[in-house]
Amino acid sequence: MAPAEIDLTVYPDECDAYGHLNQASFVALFERARWEMLARGPGMDFFTRQGAWPAVRKSTVEYHAPAFPGDILRFAQVLVHLGRTSFTLRQTARRLRDDSLLATAELVFVCVDAQGRPIPVPEALPQVMADKPLPGNLRRVAVNGVNLAVDVRGQGPAVLFIHGYPLDHSIWDYPMAHLEGWMRIAPDLRGMGQSDAPDLGYSMATYADDLLALLNTLGVERAVLCGLSMGGYVAFEMLRRARERVRGLVLMDTRSEADTADLRRARDASAAQAREGGSAAIAAAMLPKMLAAGVAADNPALVDRVRRMMEATPVAGILGAITALRDRPDSTPLLSALGDIPTLVVVGEEDQITPRQGAQQMADAIPGSRLAVVPAAGHLTPMERPEAATALLAEFLTSLGRPG
Ligand code: MLT
Repeated sequence: MAPAEIDLTVYPDECDAYGHLNQASFVALFERARWEMLARGPGMDFFTRQGAWPAVRKSTVEYHAPAFPGDILRFAQVLVHLGRTSFTLRQTARRLRDDSLLATAELVFVCVDAQGRPIPVPEALPQVMADKPLPGNLRRVAVNGVNLAVDVRGQGPAVLFIHGYPLDHSIWDYPMAHLEGWMRIAPDLRGMGQSDAPDLGYSMATYADDLLALLNTLGVERAVLCGLSMGGYVAFEMLRRARERVRGLVLMDTRSEADTADLRRARDASAAQAREGGSAAIAAAMLPKMLAAGVAADNPALVDRVRRMMEATPVAGILGAITALRDRPDSTPLLSALGDIPTLVVVGEEDQITPRQGAQQMADAIPGSRLAVVPAAGHLTPMERPEAATALLAEFLTSLGRPG
């Protein structure tokens, strides 16, 4: 299947004397987007294999707003009409930064054979064009060779929310909905949620590179990082790679140390469990440790939601994350050097996976940081106590002020 969306960058050589993307170049970008969708889906040679070449009979382009060098344009396409020998595609181009609609193209194609005679549209075409739409507010962003599913809301300085293992962006639903005045970005890490799950190539470095590339694509220079558990480990890796891009740091239900030898052995056992019993086995093993006792008893809907989220994680993503977790470096030596980055440490009072004592040690080691303990929460504070977690985040973000 072809991907639903393709992102292309506008370059200066495509622009006219006024600095606008020239209309002929815009038409070429629409064409490039169609080829990219074939290339990343059924293959660029899809029509050749079918022996049917789509010849353009009519094309109409409407321009709504100008594009400028450096803009990243998001192209989407839908099959709006399917005839016997012809089909019609509608394409849209939106600017990624503000989601404004810049241009719409409609093309009527007639399928012809090698002699130029009309022949039936390949049967496989509708299926190839109909990629599964992502649920809710999610959009696909291609970075680092994978498509990440990302929830992006609001305008303003950026906050990047990084989820833990084996979870997805939706653990941040409440702060994403409530932190007005900030550009909130919550991706599914590769291998989790709705993002692609390649078989190999997982490490904290890869997750961090994915997210730095995501910030580039979204046009975000600096962001506040808010990582939960494994998301905190990814945030540490981002700091090691590009600390100048980090405006502030929230370490939630996480720790700085690498795995001990015992924990590394437990990771290997967990990988074996995933291979044998799939995601369900991992979910069953982890669920009892995820939530505070009172939450688990009083909120069966939340328990069910967390279980389903873990069960939906592809086994390739689980195995990849286990490798990344097991082999991650010790981030403790980094802590004393974080004095120039405003930091808030948050922990659920009943967190069994990354307990309060470790959070206290991190806060003690990071100059100027503060620890907030959230009562009656376990390892998933933003889901268990969403209002309390979001109030802490809002207070912290407000304390950072607007970038100068
Ligand atoms: C997580 O919640 O991200 C993981 O449980 C972290 C870990 O296992 O170290």
